[in-house]
Amino acid sequence: MKGEETMDQRSEFSSKIGFILAAAGSAVGLGNIWRFPYLAAKYGGGLFVLIYIFFITTFGYAIMTSEIAIGRKTRLSPIGAYESLDKKYKFLGVIAVLVAALIVPYYSVIGGWIIKYLAVFLTGGYMIASQDGFFMDFITSPLEPVLWQAAFVFIAAAVVLKGIKDGIEKANRILMPVLIILSLGIGVYAMTLPGAVEGLKYYVIPDFSRFSVEGVLAALGQMFYSLSLAMGIMITYGSYLNKGDDIKKSVKQIEIFDSGVAILAGFMIVPAVFAFSGGSEEALSAGPGLMFITLPKVFESMAFSSFIGSTFFLMVLFAAITSGISLMEVVVSTICDKYEISRNKSVLLTTLFVIVMGIPSSLGNGIWSGFTLLDLPILDFFDFVTNAVLMPIGALLMCLFIGYRLKADVILNEMQLESDMKSRRFYTFMIKYVAPVFIVAVLLSSVLSTFGVITI
Ligand code: PHE
Repeated sequence: MKGEETMDQRSEFSSKIGFILAAAGSAVGLGNIWRFPYLAAKYGGGLFVLIYIFFITTFGYAIMTSEIAIGRKTRLSPIGAYESLDKKYKFLGVIAVLVAALIVPYYSVIGGWIIKYLAVFLTGGYMIASQDGFFMDFITSPLEPVLWQAAFVFIAAAVVLKGIKDGIEKANRILMPVLIILSLGIGVYAMTLPGAVEGLKYYVIPDFSRFSVEGVLAALGQMFYSLSLAMGIMITYGSYLNKGDDIKKSVKQIEIFDSGVAILAGFMIVPAVFAFSGGSEEALSAGPGLMFITLPKVFESMAFSSFIGSTFFLMVLFAAITSGISLMEVVVSTICDKYEISRNKSVLLTTLFVIVMGIPSSLGNGIWSGFTLLDLPILDFFDFVTNAVLMPIGALLMCLFIGYRLKADVILNEMQLESDMKSRRFYTFMIKYVAPVFIVAVLLSSVLSTFGVITI
């Protein structure tokens, strides 16, 4: 296997749709399933959806195309990619890989919780999962969550081990269509529940009186997280993209897929939680509590509890595992490129690293809860450093680098847009002016909201 990842014979996705499904698999994750519906319900329903769509079609589009184009142009993972564009800017790749490497461990802790819930529902334990205290007892125990976390990492590692075509592409080709079918099924079922229509109205009808700056900033932050931007993923996946494929079209399709699942998730969750809680917005905003505390109670109150609960957590597991795979691939491919070792060895090292690094995040909920960083539990600290600080800083520097140092033409030429003047002007304007201003706003708002100065 040695040399599989070298420049001249780099693996490639076997087709454009394979690439799109893999990138969409990364983008569709927990952010789509619990975060998007809750933000939309909170910030004016359809109004939030409109603001979100505006962002993904303007500078979200520009940032995602840039990352994919950088990957495909250089055919290298993030560190090598930036280095080959400009030696001085290698550190941008380092930031991106660091973000991915710091996210996978705690992401897989949550992935482990999902497998546990799936196992509980599959074995008919819906009465247990819906009990008060079940979630807290589980996440505070020292050993069990660590074992489930390791199970999540092993599944993702098994896919990454098989490489691009036979591992990542194949897994996404199966899991993503199944995910859509499961979500549609649950969505339709949720719609038949009593009280669902009221909840649905609240979710989809734009309420312009609830326009707020916080809502706009929340949509921005959600866009970065949901599209898996600024963590080297799209650069890495782009490096396996065939030279002939149309980047502009692919990005459009990835974005439609990602926002489609996010909107659909609202159809599954908002009406059901609304009906269950008698119209309380509070129940929707509970963060992880929504998924692991409220929803099990909602499922328990429904007919076919075990079946619905298992289907839901299977769907969530598919969403999380395809995101986990993409994060692992960033680290694995960086090690392969950098040290020229085989994929097998690289996967082994990454797996060990992720499991060991995840343990403190898991224990931080229980026996190590007294240990905090910046006043945050360990898992929240890593989430804060990556999502609220490093990601926006990395994205900002990338836009400035492309706009003012590398020049937008390099990206546009990789996208084969030499003669499309409209697209050229639009992209250049986004990367040089619009994106930097908005990213600074995201950075400030996410830091201030973490410390309670403002609320989002
Ligand atoms: N994009 C994923 C989501 O919407 C989140 C994610 C974060 C994926 C980090 C990969 C890496 O949930």
